[in-house]
Amino acid sequence: MDIETLQTELMAAIESADTLEALEAVRVSALGKQGSVSALLKTMGGMSPEERQTQGPIINGLRESITSALTAKKADLETAELNRRLATERVDMTLPAPDAPRGTIHPVSQVMDELAEIFADMGFAVAEGPEIEDDWHNFTALNIPETHPARAMHDTFYFPDDMARDGQKMVLRTHTSPVQIRTMTSQEPPIRIIAPGRVYRSDSDATHTPMFHQIEGLVIDKGIHLGHLKWTLETFLKAYFEREDVVLRLRPSYFPFTEPSVEVDVGYSVINGKRVIGGSEGWMEVLGSGMVHRKVIEACGLDPDVWQGFAFGTGVDRLAMLKYGMDDLRAFFDGDNRWLQHYGFNALDVPTLSGGVGA
Ligand code: DAH
Repeated sequence: MDIETLQTELMAAIESADTLEALEAVRVSALGKQGSVSALLKTMGGMSPEERQTQGPIINGLRESITSALTAKKADLETAELNRRLATERVDMTLPAPDAPRGTIHPVSQVMDELAEIFADMGFAVAEGPEIEDDWHNFTALNIPETHPARAMHDTFYFPDDMARDGQKMVLRTHTSPVQIRTMTSQEPPIRIIAPGRVYRSDSDATHTPMFHQIEGLVIDKGIHLGHLKWTLETFLKAYFEREDVVLRLRPSYFPFTEPSVEVDVGYSVINGKRVIGGSEGWMEVLGSGMVHRKVIEACGLDPDVWQGFAFGTGVDRLAMLKYGMDDLRAFFDGDNRWLQHYGFNALDVPTLSGGVGA
């Protein structure tokens, strides 16, 4: 076969190759070890110098034109393959958004974010503890010994005896107060933390659910007194309810882990038959608090003659109900879409102090 015919045939084969594999087969048939062009190149070794001078450029020219035709065809096939994938593997960024945004931020999450924002501004960090807690952290270290009646009051969910850890009976934590203990035993004072989270009690009616949410506060420093407690709670409640006329009433009370203990009421007014926080027509209880008991500070390995502090605890769900007007606690945990659409928050509605925490 003469060179010209070979070139025409190879060019036609390259042109008609419609896949990368077919093209590769053409390349091997021409330029591979046993290929037709390779065979021609080998004949040059046995040529006379004159022959080589005329045949050499022709054979090399053939190799070059086949090589560049293969390269160009390969690029074409790759582009076609990419275009095919771009056309079929579609990510359509122009799909329309749903008619209405569907998900909402649960009021409990929103209120926890509001509280974290308010307390961060006063220098409080957020602390956490486990929901499966041991008896010592949940009770004993908080000055609630085995025989204490407060244990019965807590309607505790106990784990079976064979799930004890290090000789400690395990419970679902009945309050967020054990986070006080975990914080004091794991970091050096001064301490300023809040601890929001789930708590559990075996109790269920319109105002009680077996799981609910609390937030704990703890300050440990030198020379801390009730005045600091009152200022902190007043500042927090005014920021939370977004009203300057929030009035607090501190009543003497009893908690095992505080001495003295105070219960905090907030004043409300009655407007169109509804209770609204602010003023002092009536009072409702919102918080438990007090100065941290010496025994609690001691149980955490700190010297109560050096370190003092205050603590407080309250229900997050209840705070949400007071601010946003829900009246049945159980509905918080039903997952009813209509309730969530009504009381839920927009995901972009992130609480900030400058924007008004509840805006
Ligand atoms: N742990 C208490 C409860 O669940 C609430 C409480 C009261 C927390 C007084 C405190 C406190 O930190 O000082 O009923």
